[in-house]
Amino acid sequence: MHSVVSRTIALAVFVATLLAGGVAAEVGPRGMVAAEHPLAARAGATILEEGGNAIDAAVATAFAVCVLNPSSCGIGGGGFLLYYRARDRQAFALDFRETAPAALRPELFLAGGRVDPQRSQRSGLAVGVPGEVAGLALALERFGTLPLRVVLEPAIRFARDGFPIGSHLAQEIAKNQKDIARRPLLARWFLHEDGRPRGEGEVIQFPELARTLSTLAQQGPSAFYRGAIAQEIVRTVRDAGGVMTEDDLATYSPKWRKPLEASYRGYRILTMPPPSSGGGALLAAFGIVRGDDLVRLGHNSPTYLHLLAETLKHVFADRARYYGDPDFVRVPLAELLDPNLTASLRRRILSTRTLPIEEYGSHLAPPAQMGSDAGTAHLSVMDSEGNAVACTTTINTSFGAMLVAGSTGILLNNQIDDFAIAPNVPNAYGLVGNAANAVAPGKRPLSSMAPTVVLEGDRAVAAVGGSGGPMIISGTLQVLLNVLAFGFGAEHAVAAPRIHHQWQPPVLLVEPQIDPKARNVLERVGHTVREVPEMGAIQLVRRMSSGFEGAADPRKGGGAKGW
Ligand code: GLY
Repeated sequence: MHSVVSRTIALAVFVATLLAGGVAAEVGPRGMVAAEHPLAARAGATILEEGGNAIDAAVATAFAVCVLNPSSCGIGGGGFLLYYRARDRQAFALDFRETAPAALRPELFLAGGRVDPQRSQRSGLAVGVPGEVAGLALALERFGTLPLRVVLEPAIRFARDGFPIGSHLAQEIAKNQKDIARRPLLARWFLHEDGRPRGEGEVIQFPELARTLSTLAQQGPSAFYRGAIAQEIVRTVRDAGGVMTEDDLATYSPKWRKPLEASYRGYRILTMPPPSSGGGALLAAFGIVRGDDLVRLGHNSPTYLHLLAETLKHVFADRARYYGDPDFVRVPLAELLDPNLTASLRRRILSTRTLPIEEYGSHLAPPAQMGSDAGTAHLSVMDSEGNAVACTTTINTSFGAMLVAGSTGILLNNQIDDFAIAPNVPNAYGLVGNAANAVAPGKRPLSSMAPTVVLEGDRAVAAVGGSGGPMIISGTLQVLLNVLAFGFGAEHAVAAPRIHHQWQPPVLLVEPQIDPKARNVLERVGHTVREVPEMGAIQLVRRMSSGFEGAADPRKGGGAKGW
């Protein structure tokens, strides 16, 4: 609690300093990494400095964050990566999201006919087949220049030799102290012998994870999916009530997908397609506000915030109704992103009041009926060749399923909770869904992760994305609007106070720095406004006329490093 309060005060001071014009972004003439831990950003920047490209740096940074912020992400999880290759002006989207084990069925999550959240969040059933190792290794093999063992070095070093606990991890340990205490392996890592949480600055090591990462460095990614490591994962999952098999791991593969693209104020925005809902929701939101003169409305004015909130309600309603794994359901993206449709949603936004909750969204056709930060980490990298990487990885909620795979030191995800376990039953983020995102064998749960690259013509000018569950979508939207519409620099864009609305529950969340007068106006037009200490974390790298600037979100104690 103390940590949340002190970081909220730190953020308030930071924003006040920014508004006084006193904080500069990290700059680098030849490249930039922004990540959710300063040591990870530094590890990535060193890779760039030693001749690696943006993918080499991104993969090294991702593996390092997995060790430094193990509550957010790890090799027991999965993610998405968006890559823009400057040489031939091509964009690639890599989906290494977890899959549901072949024997997973919706009814396994019911107890006495009702959904038991414990099963989808803190049991073996919560664990999806991890994609992180296969995905990062595949991105490196296809686009990188360095071997896996080299980019794994920083992560292995942090796990083996130890590192000082950062502000974010300290906060998560304190917040989850009781749950950690009940799990001996986690308690050994994160608590003192007398049960007190380890705090910021104390040195922590993960020797078991260091051994596993060294095995991957020597034997390659297949050592994760077959053999001793896979057996340990399966044994741990099954002992905790799950149904994963060695075959589920042996048959896992990442998928290349076609990035989504839309334009806003002359910029080309490239982002992640389903099973991300984040990319589609982001582009639909840009479509809704495309014709508005946001500068005239005023940054964080009540009129602007009302427009944003109503826009978010429309796109989150569509997220709940239509998005799922595109290999299992048809996601009507062409319709949802059609400029005529987003313009019609804009016309339905009234300046003087909110709408009844069921009136939000596109209502294309009846949604399919069902039969019956937390975690996550984002990093952005740009290099001197003009390549850009946005990569978001996750084990879902803080410390995932809180299951460690035996002697491997791998903390397993609870990504299965990102499915709609039952119609309109909220998940850990309060998100609802329907059959499009129902549990099915081999299916990937819907995600809000939205790694995004912005182009001006064919030149990548920004790489961005974030963590924080559904707040990834609202956070990435607001940071990009801060840059593209309001012309803010990187630090200001990332640190400026934000709001969040996800349609259901019908509550408008605001950060403490949002003007009380604006809140009163928002309440008068029909919003139920609630203050929360902070919302998600966005990492932004921008290419300037000369060199790069980067900003890591002060909400999560990250860092940006240029060279
Ligand atoms: N697990 C959070 C997300 O993927 O949206």
